[in-house]
Amino acid sequence: MSNKVTGYNRTQIILHWVIAALLVFQFVGNGTIVGVYELINKGETIESLPILARGHILLGILILTLAVWRVYLRLTRGAPDLPDGKSAAQKVIAKFTHITLYAAIFIMPLSGIGAWFGGQEIADTVHTTFKFVFLASIALHFVGAVYQQHVLKTNIIRRMTKAE
Ligand code: HEM
Repeated sequence: MSNKVTGYNRTQIILHWVIAALLVFQFVGNGTIVGVYELINKGETIESLPILARGHILLGILILTLAVWRVYLRLTRGAPDLPDGKSAAQKVIAKFTHITLYAAIFIMPLSGIGAWFGGQEIADTVHTTFKFVFLASIALHFVGAVYQQHVLKTNIIRRMTKAE
């Protein structure tokens, strides 16, 4: 699947950090849409959608669009091999975490769209349950990056900050 590249390019790096920043907003600022969705499910009519609820929907669609671009680049350009100095188990965990994170940036927006625009209960259940898997994967990914940077000293962060 991946070509032999020695690093991420500028677009891959920008997409990584832009998506990460947008996700912070989606996780921190979702209270309004949760409240509005509850009211709608109780049969109330919402005259004008609050800005934070609109933001959650629009940024979700933006994340989905950027995710398509990101995976397209991942498949066509590739990504560097995992750094040396990792055990086989660490490599499996890193790969598995990356795949889960890629899946999550599709599953979360698509299930949100299904719940909001399609009124599907199953989509709502996926959206509210999968967020825990997503958060756990982000935490694992973050701890892995910090561990590699400061304990294994592989300078991994540089791979996601300096384009090649
Ligand atoms: C502060 C938080 C984060 C840090 C420090 C971080 C750091 C990194 C680093 C250093 C890499 C390169 C790994 C390597 O070259 O082997 C990487 C890759 C990756 N990151 Fe993050 N990241 C963060 C947040 C996120 C978030 C929120 C996502 C959610 C989508 C994410 C998704 C990914 C994916 C999917 C890869 C693999 C890219 C590939 O090789 O295909 N990261 N991250």
